[in-house]
Amino acid sequence: APPHKKVPPWPSDLCKGCRVVIEKVRKYYSQTWKKQEDNYQKFRSQLSSKCNGFDKAIITQANTPVGSKIVYDGEKKSTLQVTPELFSTFAKENMFQNKTWDTCAVVGNGGILTNSSCGKMIDSAQFVIRCNLPPLEKGFEKHVGIKTDIVTANPSIFIEKYGGLMGRRRPFVENLRCYGNSLLLLPAFSYGHNTPVCLRAVYSIEDFQSPTRPVFFNPEYLQSLALYWGSQGLRVSRLSTGLMMTSLALEHCANVHLYGFWPFSNHPHGLHALPNHYYDDVKANNGFHAIPAEFELLLQLHSQGVLKLHLGDCP
Ligand code: CTP
Repeated sequence: APPHKKVPPWPSDLCKGCRVVIEKVRKYYSQTWKKQEDNYQKFRSQLSSKCNGFDKAIITQANTPVGSKIVYDGEKKSTLQVTPELFSTFAKENMFQNKTWDTCAVVGNGGILTNSSCGKMIDSAQFVIRCNLPPLEKGFEKHVGIKTDIVTANPSIFIEKYGGLMGRRRPFVENLRCYGNSLLLLPAFSYGHNTPVCLRAVYSIEDFQSPTRPVFFNPEYLQSLALYWGSQGLRVSRLSTGLMMTSLALEHCANVHLYGFWPFSNHPHGLHALPNHYYDDVKANNGFHAIPAEFELLLQLHSQGVLKLHLGDCP
């Protein structure tokens, strides 16, 4: 049966603006997705030339020497001079330089992953990127997988879940266990108040000898990403972590697969109500981000065969 025959009628409490985007999604998903190599190469080289994630995505001892001035990407007037102590926390080498992977899974935290059975497919990617220290245990494995190569953490998590890492730090370090020796990517230089709490995270990891490897986002890279996506029509005060990680993946991975990106409160196929996250229903801060507008851009890239957005359950 054609896809529109398989779905229930529009519910009266459908989320605002959802019908248009769901209709678009159904149109694209009625055809088989195929990577369009030309479109992918064009997009990737554009992104690389504007943002240069290969060299710039993270702060290293090579690109940010002692004495240099870091400019915060979220508050342009704030700067920080690199002291020897700060320098000692920077990555010694750039693990992304000239590194490419065949298949990458970027996992957003959307409620669309609930009961998706996508865990195996996500874990089958050569490189797996996750956002904001998401839970991977307690039965979530089947739907979101367990493999992690990069995980990001917003400093707000340290404040809300771990008392700003001012007291006991063991619970934080223990919760990192499920990410193994992955990179922990921290936006330490986006806002002034991020820096001390991110440094406490780094020191906790070192002091407890956790295998997790903390690294800092380079604010110059985040700034260039904001400019790039602005030039693509995105009007937003700050990009979401998911879009930052998708951008990084597009430079480094031949095949980019997105899971858990669906910032709407009804399922695109089943139309049933969804929580914002696969693990809770804390709403996104839409004054700060514009995740639905980002989604439209990602859907466009899906339709152009540049990346693949997974919105259904996995086989
Ligand atoms: N996301 C999505 N749809 C949702 C929830 C999340 O597309 N319903 C994507 C967004 O790109 C988001 C990422 O998944 O950045 C990680 O989700 P989350 O932890 O909720 O991010 P935010 O709290 O919105 O915070 P931030 O983007 O500032 O890290």
